[in-house]
Amino acid sequence: MAFDIEMIEKVYATMAERVDKARDLVGRPLTLSEKILYAHLWEGVPTQAFTRGKDYVDFAPDRVACQDATAQMALLQFMHAGKSKVAVPTTVHCDHLILAKNGAKQDLELANKQSKEVFDFLSSVSNKYGIGFWKPGSGIIHQIVLENYAFPGGLMIGTDSHTVNAGGLGMLAIGVGGADAVDVMSGMSWELKFPKLIGVKLTGKLNGWTSPKDVILKVADILTVKGGTGAIVEYFGEGAESMSCTGKGTICNMGAEIGATTSTFGYDDSMRRYLVATGRQDVVNAADKVASYLTADAEVYANPEKYFDQLIEINLSELEPHINGPFTPDRGTPVSKMKEEAAANGWPIKVEWGLIGSCTNSSYEDMSRAASIVRQAVAHGITPKAEFGINPGSEQIRYTIERDGIIADFEKMGTKVFTNACGPCIGQWDREGADKQEKNTIVHSFNRNFSKRADGNPNTHAFVTSPEMVAALAISGRLDFNPITDTLINDKGEAVKLNPPFGDELPTKGFDVEDPGFQAPAADGSSVEVVVSPTSDRLQLLAPFEAWDGKNITGAKLLIKAFGKCTTDHISMAGPWLRFRGHLDNISNNMLIGAENAFNGKANSVKNQLTGAYDEVPKVQRAYKAAGIPSIVVGDHNYGEGSSREHAAMEPRFLGVKAVLVKSFARIHETNLKKQGMLALTFANESDYDKIKEDDTINFLDLTEFAPGKPLTLEFIHADGTKDIILANHTYNDSQIGWFIAGSALNLIAAGKA
Ligand code: F3S
Repeated sequence: MAFDIEMIEKVYATMAERVDKARDLVGRPLTLSEKILYAHLWEGVPTQAFTRGKDYVDFAPDRVACQDATAQMALLQFMHAGKSKVAVPTTVHCDHLILAKNGAKQDLELANKQSKEVFDFLSSVSNKYGIGFWKPGSGIIHQIVLENYAFPGGLMIGTDSHTVNAGGLGMLAIGVGGADAVDVMSGMSWELKFPKLIGVKLTGKLNGWTSPKDVILKVADILTVKGGTGAIVEYFGEGAESMSCTGKGTICNMGAEIGATTSTFGYDDSMRRYLVATGRQDVVNAADKVASYLTADAEVYANPEKYFDQLIEINLSELEPHINGPFTPDRGTPVSKMKEEAAANGWPIKVEWGLIGSCTNSSYEDMSRAASIVRQAVAHGITPKAEFGINPGSEQIRYTIERDGIIADFEKMGTKVFTNACGPCIGQWDREGADKQEKNTIVHSFNRNFSKRADGNPNTHAFVTSPEMVAALAISGRLDFNPITDTLINDKGEAVKLNPPFGDELPTKGFDVEDPGFQAPAADGSSVEVVVSPTSDRLQLLAPFEAWDGKNITGAKLLIKAFGKCTTDHISMAGPWLRFRGHLDNISNNMLIGAENAFNGKANSVKNQLTGAYDEVPKVQRAYKAAGIPSIVVGDHNYGEGSSREHAAMEPRFLGVKAVLVKSFARIHETNLKKQGMLALTFANESDYDKIKEDDTINFLDLTEFAPGKPLTLEFIHADGTKDIILANHTYNDSQIGWFIAGSALNLIAAGKA
C-alpha cells in the first residue's frame, strides 16, 4: 500500500531542469498545468514549445489506477504484453460491482458471492504483475488514490472519468480508456492533445452553508457540460488556499461533469496537512524542496487573463449553496431560488431519499459536516422526513468516523450505512419500489444525475448538492427547504432553525484503520497462476489477434453503412452489457446494435448478403466470420465519439471486420481501432459515402503498398456488376502500420518490437 516515495523523488529531481527549459522555450511564465505537463514529457527535457489545443504530445505518466469494471479488459490485454511486471506503479480497486441494498455487511457478502470470479481474477492478475489490489469494501478508487498515492506535481492516468479527483492534491490526473492504461502499464508513452487552459480565480472565503461542492456546481452552471472540453481547469487565489485538500478533490472530481481533461490546484498548506494526516510526511519533505515548481509562476496568478485561454472569477464570500439538476449536473439553482424554480418546473417537492457518498463527497470532512446537521436534528427532536443512506469513501474513513461517533450520529436518524463503494452513484442501488417508475425527487452528493443513473427509474429527479445540504434537505423532506432562512418543526411543535454546518477537516485524533483492504502484489509473481474458468460467461482470456497475411483484402462484404451519429455507445452499448466487459465473445453480441442502418433507417437490422435476409448486426457478422468472409463497416461523421471504450474497437476486430471507412473519426476511437490492428480509413471524397450500396463487395487494390501519407484504393462492386473506385485516406505512421501488420499494438509489444 505504501506510496512510492522513490518514484516521487525521482519526478521532483528532474522537475527544475525540465520546467526551466520549458519556460525558456515557451518564452513566458508558466501555469501549474504547463509545468506538470512539460515535466512529464516522454522525451524528457523539453526541446520545443507546444501549442495548446493543437499539438499531440507523448507523455510519461507516473501512475495508473483502474476500477473493477474497466480493469477486466485492461488486464486481460495487459496479460498479452509479454511483461512480467507493470512498468509504472499501478493499482486496481474493487468498488463498482457492489450493490447497495441492506447495508454494508450483507451487501458486501452478496457482492463477494456474485462477482467472486471477477474479483478473484483481478486479485490474481494484480498479484502476478506487481499491481496493488484493493479488495471489495476497501473503498472508492479516487478516495483511496487521494489517501495513498496522489502527490503534488504528479501525472497519473486512470480507467475512470473521475480519476481527475486527484487534482485536489495538486496532480494532473486524467481519465482514459483501457487501451491507454495498457500502453502505460506496458512501458509505452501516452499521447494527449496539449490541453487548453481555463483559470478559475477564487476570491473571498467559504462561509455558512457554502462548501467546496458549491464552487464546482457554480462552475458547471457557468461552463455547462461541454464547456471544459479539451481543457485543464486550474484553480487559484486566496479562496483556493482557504479550502481543505479533500474539498479541492471534490471540485476537481466534478471537472469531469464539464468535460474538462482534468482540474488542479497549486501545492499549499491544505495539501501539507492532508499528506501528513494520511501518513506521508516524506512526500511533504520532498515537495517542499521543489514547492515553487508545484504552483504557477507568480506572474501568472497576478495577471491571469494573459496566461489562460479563458478566465472565470468566483467570490466565495458571496457564493450561495447550489442544488443542481434534475437530470443534468449543469443546471444550477442557488438555494434561495429553489422555491420558485421547483414550482415553475413542476419538480416533485417531497424529497424521498438523501444520499451522501461517491468519490465526489465521502471524505472525513464531508461526513463530519453532514453529521453536524444530523446531530442538531436529533438534539431538537426533529424526525427526518426522507430516508438516508451513506457510502463512506474508504475503510479508513469508515473506521475513523465510527471511532469518532459520526456513524452513530447518522444511525440515530435511521441512516443506512452502505459499503465503502460506489453503490447508488453507478446505479448499484436496489431501491425498493424503483420499478414502479413513479415521479419522485432524491438529493445526493454525487457528481452525475442523468436519468436512471441512481436507481434505474427515468422519473427519479436527482439533484446534486453538498453533503450538508443533502442532510438538511433530507431532514426537512423538501427540495425547496432553505436552511439559511427556513425553520423546521420539532416533535414539540416548536420551530427550529438549523445552525450552519461545522466539522473537522481532518480527524483530530488522526486517521485509523484495522484492515484497509489492501493486498500487496507478490515480490516475484512468476509462479502466480491466473485462473479463468473456460465456462465463465463474464471473463474470457484473450487470444492474440491474427497478424496481417500480407495480401490485399478481397471479397469483403459491407456489414453496415451507419447513418448519422454513431458513438461508442452505439458501437458497444453499456447498461446491461457492463457485466460482460471481461468477456469479449459475449460482449461482442452488442456490436453496433445501436447504429442506424442507412438503407432502412433501423437499428440492429442489416442485410445478410449470404441469405438476403435482414438480421441483427452481430449475427450477420458472425455468419460472415463463420464463412471466412471479411467485412467492412462504413460510417458517417465523427464516428466513435463519446468515450474511449476499447470494446468498441475490439468487438469488430474480434468478429472479423477488417476496416472501418467513415467520413471522419473521433480521434480516440480511430487510435483504438489502429491499436487493435484494424484499418481506420476516411473517405478522400466525402460524397463517395453515397456511392456505397447495400449489396456491395469490396476489394482492396493496394493494401500491399500501405504506407504513411499514401491513400488506399478500394473497389466497390455493386450487385448489378458496376463498380466504383474509392480513395481512402488514413493517418497511420510507420509504427502504427507496424501494429496493423502484427495484428495489434499488443502483439508488437509482446514481440518486443514496440
Ligand atoms: Fe464510483 Fe460514482 Fe465515482 S461510480 S468512481 S463513485 S462517479
